[in-house]
Amino acid sequence: MTSRAIKLAPSILAADFARLGDQVAEAERAGADRIHIDVMDGHFVPNLSMGAPIVESLRRATRLPLEAHLMILNPDLFVDEFTQAGTDRKRVGVAINPATPAAVLEEIMQDLDQVLVMTVNPGFGHQHFLHTTLPKIRRARQMIDQVKPECGLEVDGGVDATTAPLAVAAGADVLVAGSAIFNENESVTCAMQRLRAAVQL
Ligand code: DX5
Ligand code: ZN
Repeated sequence: MTSRAIKLAPSILAADFARLGDQVAEAERAGADRIHIDVMDGHFVPNLSMGAPIVESLRRATRLPLEAHLMILNPDLFVDEFTQAGTDRKRVGVAINPATPAAVLEEIMQDLDQVLVMTVNPGFGHQHFLHTTLPKIRRARQMIDQVKPECGLEVDGGVDATTAPLAVAAGADVLVAGSAIFNENESVTCAMQRLRAAVQL
């Protein structure tokens, strides 16, 4: 399907928080490339989730890079707090929501290590993948290939064994998955194997 190396980023939003350390450890053993942490403030998105103390605890529980997805009104005010808590301080990413065109990336692409194309409207897990975002993923892939090929292209929202191959075919190389990895139907290990098989990793 693609020669690009595909990375898996389990989103702990769907995890059982009473067993968070165990679930992240299982994801690490099953070959997760990084852990995705959704930070929501009830203003930028209509939901609350978690803050830097979770990052601090997880930093002691896993060696994987921790990626903070800041869905908050003033991200600049919190960047230092999150890097001090243990998120991956070397990499800079920008997320674009479904209604935001890829054109906003043009002037800033050189400065980015990663582009995150939201494939649902941010705020909640367990939503359906918006197929209307596929052309934008393709557009972002073209821009990255032209301007900064080492920049990652991540997709987030409704990613499962059915939609992941579509996103990868459109050019994504990092898959965030919450409910497709942390759910009651199968173990984290089985779920990750299934997702990986779907994109032939
Ligand atoms: C949604 C979050 C996602 C969420 C994805 O606003 O940014 O990271 O955890 O959850 P699923 O994979 O269940 O759509
Ligand atoms: Zn996210």
